[in-house]
Amino acid sequence: MKPTVLVLNGPNLNLLGKRQPHIYGSETLADVEADLRALAKDLGVEVRFHQSNREYELIDWIHDARETAAAILINPGAFTHTSVAILDALNAFEGPVLEIHISNVHKREAFRHHSYVSQRAEGVIAGFGTQGYSLALRRAAHLVTNA
Ligand code: DQA
Repeated sequence: MKPTVLVLNGPNLNLLGKRQPHIYGSETLADVEADLRALAKDLGVEVRFHQSNREYELIDWIHDARETAAAILINPGAFTHTSVAILDALNAFEGPVLEIHISNVHKREAFRHHSYVSQRAEGVIAGFGTQGYSLALRRAAHLVTNA
């Protein structure tokens, strides 16, 4: 069986492509999902892809991943900067966690410079636009398949 990589997107990322395109670009989240599904085939992994504006839903998906996923890619949106609960949930997951930000959060407002999730993440990608998701999937596949 191929290992599963869970890809989670937090609040407001459902508006990707429409929301502040000068910051987040014009690709939609459906485009990102399609790119990842195509790439996953080449990499020999399965992708499970979710977005929610609700913190508890992201936490529940992270809990499920304890039994059903080998790695997690997460763009927690603004929960990056606020959520100890998401950090705690990720700490209960044993596989690799990679954190993604479409924009370079370090170039933006000071409140975006701190990430709770970075305390847990094996790696962080920020400022590579939506391409960051593919880069992170390559890394996750490498980590879980030892390719
Ligand atoms: C983001 C950066 C966050 O600061 C912001 O709240 C987002 C998106 C990014 O992908 O660049 O919603 O995670």
